[in-house]
Amino acid sequence: MLPLIFAASLLAPAVAAAAERRPIIARGDGIVRSPVNALPNPEPKLRVRQNEIEVANHRAGTRYAVDVEIGTPPQTLTLILDTGSPDTWINPACDTANVPDDCRAFAHFEPSKSSSLKVTDTTDILRYGIGNATIRYVSETLTIGSATIKSQMIGIASESHSIPLGILGMSPPVTGVPEYPYVLDTMVDQGVIKSRAFSLDLRGVDNPNGALIFGGVDTGKYIGELAKLPMLTPRQSPGGADRYYVTMTGVGLTLPDGSVTQSEELNVPVFLDSGSTFSHLPTSIYQAFAASFADAQFDPESGFYYVPCEVTELDGTIDFYFGGKTIRVPLNDFIWEVQGFCILGVLPDDGEPVLGDTFLRAAYVVFDQDNRNLHIAQAANCGTNLVAIGSGTNAVPSSTGRCTELPTPTGKGDNLNVSSTRAPANTFTGTRPTGVVMGPGPAASRTAGTGGVPQPTDSASSGEKNAAGKQVQVGVAAAGALAAVNMLAWLL
Ligand SMILES: *[C@@H]1O[C@H](CO)[C@@H](O)[C@H](O)[C@H]1NC(C)=O
Ligand SMILES: *[C@@H]1O[C@H](CO)[C@@H](O)[C@H](O)[C@H]1NC(C)=O
Repeated sequence: MLPLIFAASLLAPAVAAAAERRPIIARGDGIVRSPVNALPNPEPKLRVRQNEIEVANHRAGTRYAVDVEIGTPPQTLTLILDTGSPDTWINPACDTANVPDDCRAFAHFEPSKSSSLKVTDTTDILRYGIGNATIRYVSETLTIGSATIKSQMIGIASESHSIPLGILGMSPPVTGVPEYPYVLDTMVDQGVIKSRAFSLDLRGVDNPNGALIFGGVDTGKYIGELAKLPMLTPRQSPGGADRYYVTMTGVGLTLPDGSVTQSEELNVPVFLDSGSTFSHLPTSIYQAFAASFADAQFDPESGFYYVPCEVTELDGTIDFYFGGKTIRVPLNDFIWEVQGFCILGVLPDDGEPVLGDTFLRAAYVVFDQDNRNLHIAQAANCGTNLVAIGSGTNAVPSSTGRCTELPTPTGKGDNLNVSSTRAPANTFTGTRPTGVVMGPGPAASRTAGTGGVPQPTDSASSGEKNAAGKQVQVGVAAAGALAAVNMLAWLL
């Protein structure tokens, strides 16, 4: 019997897939399309020759970003596309970003050059899995793809930690209670799209450009039917948070010989977070995956499992089951390559499990907030065929993907044992990668009302009542208050 492992010794000669860049056409009726770009980890400048950077980009999709235009006249900014948080904000503080040079490489917004900016009295502190941002809300004009929305509340950071780029927030409010209309809400309110729904196609490591489509589905980007998975209610979710949670019913592996090994039936709530670079799964699953790689080495400092990079050329997949739907993630999408290290794309989390970018690269997902469903299918690329998402209960079309089925697995192997934890076999002792930049991770669950309802105002002096009559909280923390004063100096 073949051992249930991926090992570099199983390697057959592999043909490198050619990188492909897709042209983006972004106009249509109620459909708004924007490219999603995989941003590479910033490479240490002296270690990498120029012609190696392009190759490194492919496996180093550490974050997924979209370019938006903000203000009048428009200023182009790059924002992390985040299905794990609701708020949109800009201008991270680069001095306290994890890799300051990476942060400074992107454009910052200049408020004084925009005639459409309206300041509000409301400040807030946004906390993520990694880092935080102290922001003031302003009302601004925002353009994504072909769509322009006006008077959108966005945050401008006065202080932030460990976050190198602003964020385009696409999740429901984590508390379940909206604090103001988020970007998706405004797109519907202003008639740009018909319902609060969008499709996300991050693409695999060999195809750097994916797409974010508001109000539409691209049937040229997936295989077979989209499976409709109900979003868990906050009451059903770990921590009571409202996120894009669905129920994962099993995990497994498909080995290079085509045989499938599968866990017993599970009932694990997981949420889909494009802002998480890794997937974060219950410890027993994380360890079972790691144990399936013969040469994996555990790093106690980071929780990473390092594997030989040759393993990414094997034909196997890491499999995720959702009722009748299986998403098979190719090894080279699940294993994350940075600075010559190859890291298994999973970390442990027994509290709020996440399927992050290492999963989303292989999935086509339609997020339907209005009907509280996610629709998922195996991602692929066989051209472009946009179908509109309307409104009402069946807004998301049940269109079959145009791409060809994957080869059927050849047989069944042993069960994947995820019923108990196990000790790592080998420990990593070596030089670790440095300057690794990861996505922000999910928004922390917040108590509502940290800042009053943001409303544009003519006189934004601290301590005044804002238009909604709520007490304005400027001095949330001493540092925050000082920053807010500085901000007023340049906003007014
Ligand atoms: C933000 O993160 C930094 C660094 O972890 C921490 O020192 C600071 O206290 C945090 N700020 C807030 C307001 O939570
Ligand atoms: C799973 O693994 C644990 C620890 O190795 C073992 O005790 C248990 O019997 C295994 N379960 C099955 C169903 O094989």
